[in-house]
Amino acid sequence: MNKFYITTPLYYVNASPHIGHAYTNVISDCMARFMRLEGREVFFLTGTDEHGGKIQKAAQESNLDVQSFVDKICANFKSLWKELDISYDFFIRTTDSFHKQVVINVINFLYRKGDIYKEKYKGFYCVPCESFWSEQQVKDNKGCPDCKRPVETVQEENYFFRLSKYQDWLMGYLKDNPSVIQPQIRYNEVMAFLQNPLSDICISRPKKRLSWGIDFAIDKDYVVYVWFDALINYISAVGFSLDNEKFKYFWPADIHFIGKDILRQHAIFWPIILKALDLEMPKVIFSHGWWKVGEEKMSKSRGNIVNPLELINLLNSHFPSAQKRGLDAFRFFLLREVPIGFDGNFSLEAIKSRINSDLANDLGNLVYRSLNMAEKYFQGKLEPLNTDLPKEFLETFKNLENYYTKVMQSCDFYSALELIFSFIRTMNKYIEDKKPWILWKEGKIDEMKNFLYQLSEGIRIVSLYLYPFMPSTSKEIYRQLGLSNNDNNFTFKEKSWSSYKGFCIKKDVPLFPRIETDAF
Ligand code: MSP
Repeated sequence: MNKFYITTPLYYVNASPHIGHAYTNVISDCMARFMRLEGREVFFLTGTDEHGGKIQKAAQESNLDVQSFVDKICANFKSLWKELDISYDFFIRTTDSFHKQVVINVINFLYRKGDIYKEKYKGFYCVPCESFWSEQQVKDNKGCPDCKRPVETVQEENYFFRLSKYQDWLMGYLKDNPSVIQPQIRYNEVMAFLQNPLSDICISRPKKRLSWGIDFAIDKDYVVYVWFDALINYISAVGFSLDNEKFKYFWPADIHFIGKDILRQHAIFWPIILKALDLEMPKVIFSHGWWKVGEEKMSKSRGNIVNPLELINLLNSHFPSAQKRGLDAFRFFLLREVPIGFDGNFSLEAIKSRINSDLANDLGNLVYRSLNMAEKYFQGKLEPLNTDLPKEFLETFKNLENYYTKVMQSCDFYSALELIFSFIRTMNKYIEDKKPWILWKEGKIDEMKNFLYQLSEGIRIVSLYLYPFMPSTSKEIYRQLGLSNNDNNFTFKEKSWSSYKGFCIKKDVPLFPRIETDAF
């Protein structure tokens, strides 16, 4: 099957996005672009989670009616994704009417099946996490077990979904299919959680307490619990119960990217909801780590958020004005600084040193000096004397060619960048060792031209592999190489050595000048 269906979580619209949110979408965008390079038909879904108590509260605090409030914040997310070059194919809002219809269909189906029942409930609710907790879980009234903030006591009649009925099935399924939950540490976490009995989950809220939600199909006095509503987006967006043909084509999802804080909902509730609906399981649920500041998770409530647009503007102020390399430097940093499952510590110092070492010294330097020589000695016109891969390139080029796809498929973006940068460093060393200007002095003109052709071909291949990470930089390098640089010019059909038999170079200013200022 050629399709590749990739999803991000739906972001709560209670506040504007920060770099933690940007991280999940940059990761997903990187994967989506990689799959397009591979020739897959990608369906990349993102969107916003717009119901629930948390949003209703935030709207009240901002003195807007809830719909105007969610419209406003949703627009902030959309414009951020545009600024970050997030190439999503569809943006879903849980307030979209088609989504509401699918949620209603799901509730009706599960109720008829006997998987939803009504019962009196007493326990606790954490509004920031939109999570229910039992009295045993909130020990000695110490607050939410996840975020430690105070919880509300709730006592009411509600509708429950029979999670417990499917516990044995889920354990068996996950034992047989361990690669569904990645990385391994998160798989272990889920399996450990499943050692204790699962309680059925409350999936309704009485309207008298919360009106901002989807009507609970079978009872007009209730709305649907926000997590139940939101998870269903992954099937509603591809037509579940509305467009069977489309749904059959795209489902199951090939990968759900999520942060580690929403693992339980995705690795326990979601598979069980799907099983109850008789649907296939997603192929992979991949959980990434957090961006922290000091030792704390970056979040609005902790007041330590970094606004991605302000950061990119700051970076742009250090790069040549027309080029706007700040965005790609930011994307690169997120994907290069920490291996994906781990937590990362954000600091301006760290981003500066990453830019100076990898982007200025290695990539920027390679491109600038190679293309500069091509213009200086050959007015940019390069053809090969022979198209053989230089023996000095063999090892790092072959490693890149042989392992890149494998590591990208397993979401190991960090190692993919290692492979690319080790080839970049090989080319820089090649220039330093061979000193091509000596060839010129010795009158070996064709050899020198060939040398520069090979560097340009290496640079082209590097830009192809870098495209998922830094799309606008790859396009800029293609432009300077004199190649067409629309997104659809980037394809792995052209990844073999000497796919191009010549170049007409148009060198420009250095891509990533070093950042020397202490402002970082
Ligand atoms: N609305 C739910 C998801 C529903 S999916 C059906 C939600 N939204 S969220 O806005 O709180 O978080 C969305 C994503 O942002 C999650 O993957 C979360 O892990 C990620 N991040 C939020 N803060 C983060 C960091 N500080 N670092 C990295 N990612 C974090 O949960």
